[in-house]
Amino acid sequence: MISVKSKTELEKMRKIGTITANALHFGGQSIKAGMTTYELDKIIHDYIVQHGANPCLVGYMGFPASSCISVNEQLIHGIPSKKLRLKEGDIVSVDVSAEMDGFFGDTAYTFAVGKISKEAEQLLKATNECLYKGIEQAVPGNRIGDIGYAIENHCSGYGYSVCRKYIGHGIGRKLHEDPEVPNYGKQGHGPRLVAGMTICIEPMINAVGENVRVLPDGWTVVTKSGSLAAHFEHTVAVTPDGPVILTKPTL
Ligand code: MF3
Ligand code: CO
Ligand code: CO
Repeated sequence: MISVKSKTELEKMRKIGTITANALHFGGQSIKAGMTTYELDKIIHDYIVQHGANPCLVGYMGFPASSCISVNEQLIHGIPSKKLRLKEGDIVSVDVSAEMDGFFGDTAYTFAVGKISKEAEQLLKATNECLYKGIEQAVPGNRIGDIGYAIENHCSGYGYSVCRKYIGHGIGRKLHEDPEVPNYGKQGHGPRLVAGMTICIEPMINAVGENVRVLPDGWTVVTKSGSLAAHFEHTVAVTPDGPVILTKPTL
């Protein structure tokens, strides 16, 4: 069942969305070569707690941290680790979810560690563009397939591949709600979007090939080809005035 949120509920989602986004970008600003992904997660965790929200990923299906941190060929769901040190030239995808007053926020960004290669820079730019191509389609009357089509169409223009195994989702009183929001689709197909729906649009894009595998830690998803991968995500409300991004940072 796809839930439709009232104005009051959307206001609560904007509040937690802002905290979630600020936690992500506060963490992002602290990124430097030599730090561990565990340290980065700790900064994000403390920001969430200090702003009265709940780091809901801790214990989510057994996940042990407040954020997923995925480096280079890691696409998503990387476990923050004291052994994983960021180095100049890395790209690092950070995905933060948090809860407050019964509502969830969820947002991700792929950061550069210092100076990165031209290839990496283009992948980040393309994946971020894909996110906004998807968001543009989140208007009443459109269908879920319009979002996925826009994302995949933009992605394939670069010769990159969207990961088909993991997808976006509805969000609200739960982190993961209906509908499913794939990063691929057919225009005019899938559930119709109506005002008050809130969805997470989150292109997960591999530089080479769509295939992925999960590392023996049971979480970290990496590209099968070993190529770089990127992930950007916003929580978006469908409104009569167009898509409203609920996870805009205000830092
Ligand atoms: N934030 C992720 C998403 O975008 C959810 C991660 S679940 C975890 O849907 F268990 F891996 F943390
Ligand atoms: Co997320
Ligand atoms: Co999500």
